[in-house]
Amino acid sequence: MRTLDWDEDKDALRLIDQTLLPREYKLIECKHVDELIAAIKSLKVRGAPALGAAGAFGVVLACTTAITKESVKQEVTKLKIARPTAINLSYGVNRAFNAALRGETRIEMKRYALAEANLLAEEDVAVNKKIGEYGSALLDDGDVVMTHCNAGRLACVDWGTALGVIRTAIANGKRIEVISCETRPLNQGSRLTTWELLQDKIPVTLITDSMSATVMRAGKVDKVIVGADRVVKEGVINKIGTYMHAVVANAHKIPFYVAAPLSSFDSDRSYKEVEIEERSPEELIYFGSEQIAPLDVNVYNPAFDFTPFELIEAVITEKGVVYPD
Ligand code: MRU
Repeated sequence: MRTLDWDEDKDALRLIDQTLLPREYKLIECKHVDELIAAIKSLKVRGAPALGAAGAFGVVLACTTAITKESVKQEVTKLKIARPTAINLSYGVNRAFNAALRGETRIEMKRYALAEANLLAEEDVAVNKKIGEYGSALLDDGDVVMTHCNAGRLACVDWGTALGVIRTAIANGKRIEVISCETRPLNQGSRLTTWELLQDKIPVTLITDSMSATVMRAGKVDKVIVGADRVVKEGVINKIGTYMHAVVANAHKIPFYVAAPLSSFDSDRSYKEVEIEERSPEELIYFGSEQIAPLDVNVYNPAFDFTPFELIEAVITEKGVVYPD
């Protein structure tokens, strides 16, 4: 099953609930925009390209349940801001909503929105395969590749961006091993990246985020590849911790790559203009249901950080490899 798809029979968006992985593989249905917004905020569906596709299908939900064209617009506006940092969410919503506006009645609007959302989902897979081809050429047989967070098929409709590069390299006959950083506080690296790589029998070793410098200094990493939530004028915004790995990779002369579709590019904007999502203090105070910090401690919990192009060897896109120089 893909990370998400439209269920024609139930008129619903079907998603893998990523908060339950790796303990449980469960599909959930969203029939209302509010359910989808809740799923996005709680990270049941997450990762920039997957948010783009979810946003596009969310417009279909709005056309299904809202009563007037105006109320479709209101639902769509709420959906677009469910998470602020990845540009793909508004990209997906805008694409499907602009398509919907070609319809006169809600039924027509829904038909146009669904066609566009399905097209976007298919494009996502094709784009990731292209990123994989371009990126695979940068990897050598025997490479150990470090990654952070989850930029795999769970973060997209299928295949993945950073992990898509690794999948394509392996499909092309290269032996590649992966080091996955756990990605505190929500552990997308330990819960999702390791899970999906093991499903494909790709060798992966899990480390904590704070081990990356030691592992790189020990010569255990040949390349680093991560995804992106937004590529801006001066660099890349991605999961918190990305900048730290880029600094360390540069200190050890290890190439640091970003794999991202052009739909994640927002090249005219500065990183200073982008809202970095701050998440709930509970994510640091609790580990699952276990309290691991005093309840009244002051917490700072940004979900993303910014890495300047000076630290990035290249950005791998579906149109080719872009060298920041
Ligand atoms: O908070 P998340 O899990 O949505 O963050 C995801 C990331 O930071 C990914 O690295 C990014 O979206 C790229 S996914 C291809």
